[in-house]
Amino acid sequence: MSWYPRHRRDLPWRHTRDAYAIWLSEVILQQTRVAQGLPYYLDFLATYPTVGDLAAAPEQEVLRHWQGLGYYSRARNMHHTAQQVVGEFGGRFPATYAGLRQLKGVGPYTAAAVASFAFDEAVAVLDGNVFRVLARVFGLHSDIAAPASRKEFQALADQHLPPAHAAEFNQAIMEFGALQCTPAKPDCLFCPLQSPCWAFQHGQVALLPIKAKAKAARTRYFHYLVLCHAGQLYLKQRSAGDIWQGLYDFALAETDAAEMPVAEVLRHVAALGGQPDTSRVAEDRPSPTLRHVLSHQKLECRFHAVELTVPLPPATQRDTGLQAYSATEIEQLPKPVLISNYLDKIS
Ligand code: ADE
Ligand code: SF4
Repeated sequence: MSWYPRHRRDLPWRHTRDAYAIWLSEVILQQTRVAQGLPYYLDFLATYPTVGDLAAAPEQEVLRHWQGLGYYSRARNMHHTAQQVVGEFGGRFPATYAGLRQLKGVGPYTAAAVASFAFDEAVAVLDGNVFRVLARVFGLHSDIAAPASRKEFQALADQHLPPAHAAEFNQAIMEFGALQCTPAKPDCLFCPLQSPCWAFQHGQVALLPIKAKAKAARTRYFHYLVLCHAGQLYLKQRSAGDIWQGLYDFALAETDAAEMPVAEVLRHVAALGGQPDTSRVAEDRPSPTLRHVLSHQKLECRFHAVELTVPLPPATQRDTGLQAYSATEIEQLPKPVLISNYLDKIS
């Protein structure tokens, strides 16, 4: 805590006691680094100055502002939480850890952060930074990825938190992990905790924290049929049960092969009732591959552009949700970054 005031970064969410603004910053920062999250935080706060404004916004618009942060279910959860705060708590965030935990989508970390930063409750936050600092300083060898380790780390953090300075302590230990006791190259030589630090004294800094490796990501092969007619492209909204729920993409054929011969592309188009302009579909037409890495899967996406001679039949539009959109309309739709990148590439 003596280190913190001398090294802290000046960040906008550290100048507010507004639970909504703090919650917003924490939701965004769980998703991304400070440098990338900052403009999103400022944008959200400018667009939705209160939790009521966020709750009242259309979901599509919220997703659009979230675009680029990835993991869109977070944005949807955030929106739902805002609506719950308005609907069940009169637009005021509950002022205790226990109360905050009643909000759907507010986990232990976020509840502890908001309760301590906004309301000074004496509850310790545990995020990746805190796990790392505690594991090294105290020489804890439990697997930080195992849910059972949480109790042990939480007890240790709570035990060291000075009850009258909860907010300052939590900020300090996270900042210490972010700036001093970093994952790859911690600055041990100029560290105020050098002498009590177990890992430093035992030469085990590089070994701690212990974290079991996640399962290897599975690869999925997406073949997008980019159907165009009269200068418009067909897109649909993705449904529940898979990645990117609520975002817009093209007609999709998922296979177990990275390549798709033109004949097969045309079969898929025919299955949608599309009438391709075969004179404009050739083997050598570029179908760029874009790769995208999500937390548990790797996507290899091919884009097969197919010009149609007539619009898709109404039955297809009804059954698949595919609709023709102009470039201006597409601009306004919330889309996975991968789809935006593709559109940038062809425009
Ligand atoms: N990461 C998560 N929460 C943070 C905060 N309040 N300040 C800086 N980095 C953070
Ligand atoms: Fe972290 Fe190194 Fe300081 Fe220990 S001595 S707290 S490992 S930076």
